[in-house]
Amino acid sequence: MNDSPASKIVGVGRALGSRVVSNRDFEATLDTTEEWISSRTGISERRFVGEDENCATLAIEASREALKHAGATGESVDLIVCATSTAPESMPSVACLVGEAIGAAGVGAFDLAAACTGFSYAASVADAMLCSERASRVLLIGADAMSTIVDQTDRSTAVLFGDGAGAVLLDRSDDPSGFVDHILGADGRMAPLGRAGHPGDEHKLYQNGREVFKFAVRILPEMVEKLLSRNHISLDDVQYIIPHQANARIIQAAARKMEVPDEKIVVNLDRFGNTSAASIPLSYPDIFDGLESGRYVITVGFGFGLTWAANLYRI
Ligand code: UT7
Repeated sequence: MNDSPASKIVGVGRALGSRVVSNRDFEATLDTTEEWISSRTGISERRFVGEDENCATLAIEASREALKHAGATGESVDLIVCATSTAPESMPSVACLVGEAIGAAGVGAFDLAAACTGFSYAASVADAMLCSERASRVLLIGADAMSTIVDQTDRSTAVLFGDGAGAVLLDRSDDPSGFVDHILGADGRMAPLGRAGHPGDEHKLYQNGREVFKFAVRILPEMVEKLLSRNHISLDDVQYIIPHQANARIIQAAARKMEVPDEKIVVNLDRFGNTSAASIPLSYPDIFDGLESGRYVITVGFGFGLTWAANLYRI
């Protein structure tokens, strides 16, 4: 386990695309049904960005909400890390745009790309910066506008994804609450299993859904077990597991393997679809007020690359 200081979550916020798209909406444009989508994925609806929105506007909105929730100002932030793969432009980074919007100009700001695993990667970086005293207050964001890189005529991917951003404000703290451990992994030999271009590119998202599915069901329990065993805690000590939200069947199969009761698993994909790097932090506002001091939250994800990562957080 880490020695103090720790990186403690002091504020959470989220933003979603303004267009609500239901499964039935896809029946009009694609050879699909509400029944196929809900039974194969668990998704009922997702949110797409509207005309004047993109990944950066969502990241800004979520960040403002997290600051407000913490009662903090943008000027007090000294590092901004944004996990994303759908920045509206390659340059500037989304993190720079967030810094400008919240009045934190002049502080370090960068994006980090690890596909759907991005938030867990970024959390480990933010934690390292705080614990090594290179930062004292970090704005950590996961933001993706997946509708800008998905082929809306491809039924096998169009129905899966959504647009959102989740932000958490992290403070260096001397109390025991904060990140305790992280796992990071990647294997580029599996890159062909999922690829996508930038927003606006011809090269839209492709995935081998079945293979990614199998990989996810294997890797999620492996990471959780590793975190538990090397930190000498049990599932009873864990209040919540927040998995990456790709498919309800992946989450259920992984939960069965781990023998985790449903109430410990946090789910948002029914409302938001797969929001890639935003999928995990979008859950924080749903659970934050009910977190029980002394227990743990595990965040655990996987994504293209393939990449995988997990974080253990002591409440
Ligand atoms: O977060 C990033 C990483 N990505 C993932 O985690 C994705 C993981 N994989 C999955 O979630 C699932 O594999 C999918 C949801 C992508 C697909 O579910 P599946 O149960 O693995 O279906 P499948 O790909 O084996 O396709 C079954 C059938 C196919 O038809 P045939 O070949 O059996 O005639 C597909 O063409 O379902 C068809 N299909 C659809 N039918 C109606 C695929 N998409 C649709 C659709 N509506 N939207």
